[in-house]
Amino acid sequence: MNYHIKDIKLAKKGKLRVEWANEYMPVLSLIRKRFAKEKPLKNVKIAACLHVTTETANLAETLKVGGAEVYLCASNPLSTQDDVAATLVKDYKIPVFSIKGEDRKTYYAHMNKCLDVEPNITMDDGADLVSTVHSKRRNLVGNILGGTEETTTGIIRLKSLEKNKALLFPIMAVNDANTKHLFDNRYGTGQSTMDGILRATNILMCGSNFIVCGYGWCGRGVAMRAKGLGANVTVCEVDPLRALEAVMDGYRVTTISRACKYGDVFVTVTGDTKVLRKEHFLLMKDGAIVANSGHFNVEIDIPALTNLSRKKEE
Ligand SMILES: NC(=O)c1ccc[n+]([C@@H]2O[C@H](COP(=O)([O-])OP(=O)(O)OC[C@H]3O[C@@H](n4cnc5c(N)ncnc54)[C@H](O)[C@@H]3O)[C@@H](O)[C@H]2O)c1
Repeated sequence: MNYHIKDIKLAKKGKLRVEWANEYMPVLSLIRKRFAKEKPLKNVKIAACLHVTTETANLAETLKVGGAEVYLCASNPLSTQDDVAATLVKDYKIPVFSIKGEDRKTYYAHMNKCLDVEPNITMDDGADLVSTVHSKRRNLVGNILGGTEETTTGIIRLKSLEKNKALLFPIMAVNDANTKHLFDNRYGTGQSTMDGILRATNILMCGSNFIVCGYGWCGRGVAMRAKGLGANVTVCEVDPLRALEAVMDGYRVTTISRACKYGDVFVTVTGDTKVLRKEHFLLMKDGAIVANSGHFNVEIDIPALTNLSRKKEE
């Protein structure tokens, strides 16, 4: 089997974690039982460009049980769990092309490996796979029945293609399902954002000035969880209606430039670019923490921050 992962020896740990996640995915388990009998995806090749996590592993396995040939690459170079990639290859016999921290070139090389199989269905989280088909591999279009797109940012990209009559095959907007954006975006991202910040920084959240940029489905969840941990939450939002909603939900609402002067922790979750940029970094307190939960890390102007910095440490 052709694959490219970090280390196959990580499979044992990955397997345990995938099985653990499965315990909390009862709907998928029911679908898997049905798929085992009905095999609705027999002879279907699926190229899946998704976060390579324990949950995705269970999804990939379910598709395989349904009869599909599944090929998996990452939808973000930073989110791959290398132990999950290892168990998918070793124990589930699913080809994976993904290594946490891979550079841009490798990220796209991995994506192209999944496209080389000439898939019938694409699964995307951020629209990078479909964009690659549209820009560089149009010869594959004839084989593709359709695809799925998971996240808000990906759907924005696809809707713009559709508006220009340039979308070459139908895509299901998974994020538009109520069971996706009302729950994953709000409660999932709310919790995992706090989890990520706490694991990375180990700060005491209560009493801190916590700034959430964007009060959409994800932003509402992040603000709710920060408040629950005792932070003083400020929301910065460009849509006046959502800004008003944040006021009514009990948050302080202001502009990013004002919030920069007192914020201790900043989270961007907008789907926009350069939400935090040079003029903001210059206003921030020493020791301010910036984090992004939006799909792409372009919400924080990292090149500008790098230019301002005297040194970089891990
Ligand atoms: N980290 C995760 O687990 C996760 C999960 C789901 C979605 N996402 C991603 O998070 C991002 C937000 O998704 P969502 O579903 O909350 O979208 P949304 O459209 O519901 O909300 C985004 C909000 O940001 C606001 N906004 C846009 N530009 C802004 C700016 N410059 N300053 C302040 N506010 C601004 C918009 O007005 C809107 O209210 C997307 O990139 C999405 O793909 C991440």
